[in-house]
Amino acid sequence: MDKKKIKKEYNEKIKNLVKLNKYYYDLSKPLVNDNEYDQVKEEILSLEKKYDFLENKNSPSQKVGFRPSKTFKKVFHKVPMLSLSNAFDEEDLINFEKKINNFLDQKSSNELEYSAEPKIDGISASLVFKKGKFVMGLSRGDGKEGEDITQNLMTINDIPKKITAKNFPDEIDIRGEVFIQNKDFENLKDKFANPRNAASGSLRQKNPQDTKKIPLKFIAYTFGYVNNMAIKNQSDYLNQLGNWGFKINPFNKTIKGIKNLMQNYHEIEKKRNEIDFDIDGIVYKINSFKLQKRLGNVANSPRWAIAHKFSANKGVSTILNIEIQVGRTGALTPVAKIKPINIGGVVVSNATLHNEDEIIRKDIRIGDTVVVERAGDVIPHIIEVDLKKRNKNSKKYIFPLKCPSCGSKTIKEYNSITKKNDAVRRCSSEGYECEKMTIEKIKHFVSKEAFNIDGFGKKIVENFWKLEMIRLPQDIFGLNYEKIKIMDGWGQQSVANLRYAIEEKKNISFEKFVYALGIRHIGFENAKLIAKTLKSPEKFVNLSKENKIDDLLNIDGIGETQITSLKKFFLNKTNLKVIQDLQKILNITKTIENKTDGVLSDKIFMFTGKLTGMSRAEAKSLIEKNSGTIISNVSKKLDYLIIGEKPTKRKIEAAKELKIKIIDQSDLYKLLDKSS
Ligand code: IVH
Repeated sequence: MDKKKIKKEYNEKIKNLVKLNKYYYDLSKPLVNDNEYDQVKEEILSLEKKYDFLENKNSPSQKVGFRPSKTFKKVFHKVPMLSLSNAFDEEDLINFEKKINNFLDQKSSNELEYSAEPKIDGISASLVFKKGKFVMGLSRGDGKEGEDITQNLMTINDIPKKITAKNFPDEIDIRGEVFIQNKDFENLKDKFANPRNAASGSLRQKNPQDTKKIPLKFIAYTFGYVNNMAIKNQSDYLNQLGNWGFKINPFNKTIKGIKNLMQNYHEIEKKRNEIDFDIDGIVYKINSFKLQKRLGNVANSPRWAIAHKFSANKGVSTILNIEIQVGRTGALTPVAKIKPINIGGVVVSNATLHNEDEIIRKDIRIGDTVVVERAGDVIPHIIEVDLKKRNKNSKKYIFPLKCPSCGSKTIKEYNSITKKNDAVRRCSSEGYECEKMTIEKIKHFVSKEAFNIDGFGKKIVENFWKLEMIRLPQDIFGLNYEKIKIMDGWGQQSVANLRYAIEEKKNISFEKFVYALGIRHIGFENAKLIAKTLKSPEKFVNLSKENKIDDLLNIDGIGETQITSLKKFFLNKTNLKVIQDLQKILNITKTIENKTDGVLSDKIFMFTGKLTGMSRAEAKSLIEKNSGTIISNVSKKLDYLIIGEKPTKRKIEAAKELKIKIIDQSDLYKLLDKSS
């Protein structure tokens, strides 16, 4: 037996494992499938068993096996897990408060009370307690559906497993952050880029015993579904969490007024390095639950909360090149390739230049020395050029007048609202005619909010495109799995998983289908509105044939911009082929309205004039919460015209003519009260 040779073989295997981990976690680009990964681990372990002189700190026998090779059961959250919008400076906070006061129809000088909570940069989790017992723990997932990671969460000491307090709700899902302390991360440094990745890897272990080896912590800060809770505001809730045995952030505060929020922000930012866990900002939440409820949500984030990000880390580098990326809707985004620099622990080699106007305004040129800024999860960008260091021969950057992908003319559109040309230059092709746009459209199609095909990430789209396996979204449903099986990086199991994930998504909701098409100006909210109004997918497919696109203008929220975009979409032959083919392959499920049992079910409303003590936006959300619908033009469909102060006479006349009921705000309250 040649000891040296064995050692060499062993060390090579370890080196390979470290590389596989790096690609999987830090670069999100797995090099091998799960089975192959497990095999590499097994080989190392069996060598160690055979030869006891073999030892390495990176061996799976010394450390947790990290990479999960398990798919967890998916479970819907009873109440979705939302995300937060970001604020970067005082002005953003002033706007945030202003919007809230507007929505509540309060004076904009009105100072609101907030719970200010340092934002831990970890992984959020939702813990369901029934009758005081911790029964199920879910990851956030896409916000609507999480993964059942109960067994792994069970291993965390900070999570109480049984709560006997009298005032503990019958059922509650307590939400908070799972994280790793910086001192514990020291031992895991060579495996993960940062504590957040380490926490995420550990939480998704196949074997809870492996999760247990890592000292994960849990801090609680909010709740989802709750049954019977008498608490009236966030700060009392946080205190109560403490009494129930949860850890809460020791730096939480209750604060009134933006000036005081700013002061607290600066104090915490100064302390940031002394705190033994990563925080990337402060979350502000309107303290009163009653106000939170009135405010509700916009799309995926609450109106009543915001994350105030800490100021970015900066670094100096040089621009090596400027590349143009073509987005799904044709927008050309210039990206600076910079000499790689480490900014706050992350190596940065790309910085966005936003758009053509930004390059002109800052006169950014290839070869320039620049200051680069990176804030948390926001894409790094260039703040300024050091003109003193500019090479005398450098030339202004000329933005391409032809699309670098398909060669079509690039255009700047005129914006009729701002009465200016857009800052963004676009490829003028119609979409599937441009290669880069098509690839981006397919990435959007499989993305989380759209078809959400498990394991079908951006890299796979690019790879399949290169291999000419996909050209249009419908090709995803006709993949040749036999061919994939023999491709590099794929195996029996991973192909079976992919196939399952794709087959599963042949059942798709109408709104996700509309959103997935990636029609410009039709985001998820608009897609929902369209699906809710049309009800049947066939109607959508035949929209243009039946000349019905203009009718959508009556939907509150859909305007001329959306209508023009839809018309353009339906005029394109490839788009029509995409939707017709997809309609044949898919089972597009009719839209089931969330709550059709509200007191205003089937009733259609319209407003004219100003309401009192409530903004139009709040009234709209109130009606929708009770299953009513709002439209924006008087028509036969309308059931009630609600008039406020200074209504438009023309609208009242039109309503009278059609014998539509005309009511005021107090009548609306009566309607809402009737059966509640
Ligand atoms: S509240 C609707 N409170 O930030 C409110 N989130 O972007 C959403 N986070 O996914 C959650 N500290 O992972 C809330 N004190 C805190 C938080 C916090 C950290 C994270 C959480 C969430 C993300 C929102």
